[in-house]
Amino acid sequence: MAKIAPSMLASDFGRFAEQAQAAVDAGAEYLHLDIMDGCFVPNISFGAGVVEAVRRACPSALLDVHMMVNDPLRYAEDFIRAGANIVTLHEECTPHLQRALAFLRQKGVKAGVALNPATGLETLRYVLDDIDLLLVMTVNPGFGGQKLIPATVKKIREARELIGERDILLEVDGGVSPATGPMLIQAGAQLLVAGSAVFGAQDMAAAMRAILGE
Ligand code: DX5
Ligand code: ZN
Repeated sequence: MAKIAPSMLASDFGRFAEQAQAAVDAGAEYLHLDIMDGCFVPNISFGAGVVEAVRRACPSALLDVHMMVNDPLRYAEDFIRAGANIVTLHEECTPHLQRALAFLRQKGVKAGVALNPATGLETLRYVLDDIDLLLVMTVNPGFGGQKLIPATVKKIREARELIGERDILLEVDGGVSPATGPMLIQAGAQLLVAGSAVFGAQDMAAAMRAILGE
């Protein structure tokens, strides 16, 4: 059964904790938190203090921290301390990926790897046993509200195949909506990040159901 991780990037920042709580009340088990440094991606979002506030507001939510920052290991521990359950690093800015993934697991969180649309899956071949979550970006990271890049759907299918029987959660992020959700699930996605499609909707629960094709 596929699940939705609402992306807090699309929420009203003036009512952040309240919006996180509303997403949980609407049925979200996961909350996706986009950390952007203005260097790896051309935008700045928020830091560990904000994640900590969400943790306080939503004690039982699974906090899925997507780090779009250069030198992610320098900051990962701050987010773990803030209450992250999953920490996802980008392959493109993590030179010692195996070491980084092992570090995350050793600190007690799930270790995720994200791939930009242009990055191939082959970069993961030798670290598959170190990964708990694979995030296939369906847009170039940095902004919410972008259109899904169609070529990434094939990559989701290939990722599904690469994962095989391994216990690795396949997540997709960017341009997820009721129009694209069912096709992404069909391709093998298990966790669908959705920002504008959830927080831009009148009824968040209905939007989440629609993305799942229910
Ligand atoms: C993009 C972020 C996404 C973003 C998705 O860089 O990683 O999580 O919030 O936004 P939507 O769902 O609006 O495409
Ligand atoms: Zn994200």
